[in-house]
Amino acid sequence: MRILMIGASGTLGRAVTKELEKKHEMIRAGRHGADVTVDIQSVDSITNMYRQVGKVDAVISATGSAHFGPITDLTPELNELAIESKLKGQINLVLLGLDYVKDGGSFTLTTGILMDDPIAQGASAAMANGGVKAFVKSAAIEMPRGIRINSVSPSVLQESWDQYASFFPGFEAVPAARAALAFIKSVEGAQTGQNYEVY
Ligand SMILES: NC(=O)c1ccc[n+]([C@@H]2O[C@H](COP(=O)([O-])OP(=O)(O)OC[C@H]3O[C@@H](n4cnc5c(N)ncnc54)[C@H](OP(=O)(O)O)[C@@H]3O)[C@@H](O)[C@H]2O)c1
Repeated sequence: MRILMIGASGTLGRAVTKELEKKHEMIRAGRHGADVTVDIQSVDSITNMYRQVGKVDAVISATGSAHFGPITDLTPELNELAIESKLKGQINLVLLGLDYVKDGGSFTLTTGILMDDPIAQGASAAMANGGVKAFVKSAAIEMPRGIRINSVSPSVLQESWDQYASFFPGFEAVPAARAALAFIKSVEGAQTGQNYEVY
């Protein structure tokens, strides 16, 4: 398959790319993408990326930013990051990419554990995750041409533990390689409308 991987250079994206590149042609995208550049916060940038890349069998997003901080300090402005990046950015990859995904192809987006197992300072990220999950579940029932759509909800990754441990007391970190399996299931399998929890 020809797979467009947005966020390929990230902690999660590297693990997903490492698994999928064994069998598939990977096109690596990001703001400093190895093969094509894209800023998911810009509609024009996403459109340009798809024009450059052309038809693909699968689009994977392993990206999306959010502000972490106490709810009492969360301003509408700080909340915009999660809306513009993790929520709208990922959803716009689908809306603008539909014509570029071949019949029977797939989209796979990324959510995260904290929407279902809340942590302090995570409300903005949880909002975006929940929006993505709901979009995926709903969009799946009317995707055209046999195109499937799923999301993956990892726990905190072992590779990110040093960075995020203080936010996730009592949580069990998972290896990024295990989270990558859910992306393989989404791309190579037959399911749609799922949010794969990797806890
Ligand atoms: N790490 C964890 O423990 C964990 C756990 C659960 C869920 N997640 C979720 O998994 C996703 C990836 O997390 P991560 O830890 O792998 O992040 P990361 O290491 O910071 O990597 C982010 C990736 O996304 C790209 N990127 C960042 N902003 C972008 C933008 N505006 N447009 C296009 N590409 C952009 C980056 O490349 P460029 O800098 O070149 O743009 C990079 O490839 C996020 O949605 C995160 O919430 C992570």
